[in-house]
Amino acid sequence: MSLNDALHWRYAAKRLNGDQVPEDTLERIMDAARLAPSSFGLHPWSLVHVRSHELRARLHEKAAPQPQVIEGSDLLILAVHDRDFKTQVDEHIAHMARTRGQDERELDGFRDMVKGVMDQKGSHEACLEWAARQAYIGLGMILSAAALERVDASPMEGFYPEKLDEALGLGEKGLKSVVMVALGYRDTERDPGAEREKVRRDREHFVVRLP
Ligand SMILES: Cc1cc2nc3c(=O)[nH]c(=O)nc-3n(C[C@H](O)[C@H](O)[C@H](O)COP(=O)(O)O)c2cc1C
Repeated sequence: MSLNDALHWRYAAKRLNGDQVPEDTLERIMDAARLAPSSFGLHPWSLVHVRSHELRARLHEKAAPQPQVIEGSDLLILAVHDRDFKTQVDEHIAHMARTRGQDERELDGFRDMVKGVMDQKGSHEACLEWAARQAYIGLGMILSAAALERVDASPMEGFYPEKLDEALGLGEKGLKSVVMVALGYRDTERDPGAEREKVRRDREHFVVRLP
């Protein structure tokens, strides 16, 4: 199946039937998020995986009251790294040097340039906003990878991030949630959205064609 076919098949399922996503399929979907590109390759976000039904029920009650949270098989929370960004740059450069067998000093110019961009952003909050934009690239990867696997993926911003972070102890891990995805299988009987026509801008209005 082509990616475009998969994207026509997918929709944001509102009701899921509780069936379990196989482990290897789940790993491939999570790995698509890991492989997402990011600005400077910094990848300033992590994926939090929640499977336990009990924990999802608690989240549903306290922070994320949408049925997909409990009816899905797994919940993925995309969370930005709420830590000093220049330290993250240093860690990333050390990782790059280790991975590619380089001397870190060869990357000093790159280090200065990236830290300069962090300075331009002006505040930790602005850096967090930028990190969230990187996480949304991962969201796209998850939705696409899931569709190719014929797994339904329901993206959700409709939750209370502070309450969710508290319930999962994400603050202590230096994480801040930005968006979540419930994975599972559509319940076509209870979800009218399963049969609805997709609503998208038509091509001539979406693509601004310049010579
Ligand atoms: C970032 C993001 C957040 C979303 N949050 C929610 C949500 O909290 N609850 C919900 O039911 N749908 C949510 N949606 C689903 C959208 O409403 C849906 O993707 C959109 O209407 C297009 O429909 P389709 O994905 O079914 O083709 C979200 C989608 C995205 C991309």
